[in-house]
Amino acid sequence: MPSIRSAYTDSIGFFGASSPSALVEEFGTPLYVYSEKILRERCRELVSMCKTRGFTVNYSAKANTNPALLAIIREEGLTVDAMSPGELHMDLLAGFDKSNIFYISNNISPAEMKNAIAHDLLVSVDSLSQLDLYGTLNPGGKVMVRFNPGIGAGHSKKVITAGKETKFGVCPEDAEEVRKLLAKHNLTLAGVTQHIGSLFMQPDGYVAAADFLLGFVENLPRDMREHLEIIDFGGGFGIPYHKYDHEPRLNLQELGASLDALFASFIEKTGYSGRFLVEPGRYVVAECGLLLGSVEAVKNNGPKRYVGTDLGFNVLVRPAMYDSFHDVEIYGKGDAADRQEMVQTLVGNICESGDILAKDRTWPEIHEDDIVGVLDAGAYGFSMSSSYNTRCLPAEVLIPLEGKPRLIRRRQTLDDLTATLV
Ligand code: LLP
Repeated sequence: MPSIRSAYTDSIGFFGASSPSALVEEFGTPLYVYSEKILRERCRELVSMCKTRGFTVNYSAKANTNPALLAIIREEGLTVDAMSPGELHMDLLAGFDKSNIFYISNNISPAEMKNAIAHDLLVSVDSLSQLDLYGTLNPGGKVMVRFNPGIGAGHSKKVITAGKETKFGVCPEDAEEVRKLLAKHNLTLAGVTQHIGSLFMQPDGYVAAADFLLGFVENLPRDMREHLEIIDFGGGFGIPYHKYDHEPRLNLQELGASLDALFASFIEKTGYSGRFLVEPGRYVVAECGLLLGSVEAVKNNGPKRYVGTDLGFNVLVRPAMYDSFHDVEIYGKGDAADRQEMVQTLVGNICESGDILAKDRTWPEIHEDDIVGVLDAGAYGFSMSSSYNTRCLPAEVLIPLEGKPRLIRRRQTLDDLTATLV
């Protein structure tokens, strides 16, 4: 099947020796497709961005927890986080050692905290009350505390995770309260963590927040900072979603050089010899993932042209939830030159009018039986998918460096949907 709009994936050889139509024929749609080549490239860029000893890239698994991808990420030398028993389960399945898993929690139950402690993980707590709970469950243990640097950033209000308007982190002004709780339970502060929000394209805000955290640590009383092993600056590294507009990439070299400079001065002032963590999720996995869907119907509602697909917001919720932009490719029969350019809106098969994947885009006319490919769907795609309208979760396929595409998660069945009924 020739392509109508595929310049981007063509330029990077995304499908390798396979093709969208071959994948759809073998595995059906909706289908998440991942490129091992691109995943490894992104991991390597991150691992080499800073030169400081102790610099560590901690993959934030919430973006995508498929163990086949996690195993590749592990092979590339990244550590991993977990924020739920499910994520921890996947990290372990992928072969991560417990010393390379960090439990970055938010409002967890005593049972969940006990589970993380039983696995011997370093846990980051997110409030004074959770620190007190941790101390009760693991007196004499090691703990990390998440602070809120007061500087937030993000592509949508819903993903800004620092500043007064969010539920996250302990206020720096509460450091003395943290100290009292540490003493009460004989805990060692082994790490400080933060995360200011998701998707920045300019390094400034992240660097300013990192500077803040290091200054804050430097000014902590000696007994609070002398056993620190981890300083975690969080994730948020953006990727260019506007591929067809040639949106520039985040400048990782510039970001890395700024961080290295901060680390060097901090080490000089404090003698710190522990690790510096960055915690990207999206940057690692977004671009290696593409979502294939089938065009089931086209229609004109007055002046509006709708293209109806099987990619409802149950499969990819980002556009409906955050108004996020994803570029779309079109794979179909015939010649692109024969297709008139027109404004079209790509929608799914969910019974809500907000079920819109891409609004008012100018593309060559899409036909029934075309396949569409949603770019940059590897992060917060499958991991945020749901069974809304009682639809089955999609399948996932990996295009390996060599050999044939491999199913890494089968499509759900109706039996799966009823498996938990009693
Ligand atoms: N660390 C912590 C503590 C986090 O909460 C997050 C993301 C990350 C790291 C990784 O952030 P990233 O590098 O992926 O931006 N569902 C939204 C993004 C929500 C991010 C939540 N926390 C989206 O689809 O854009």
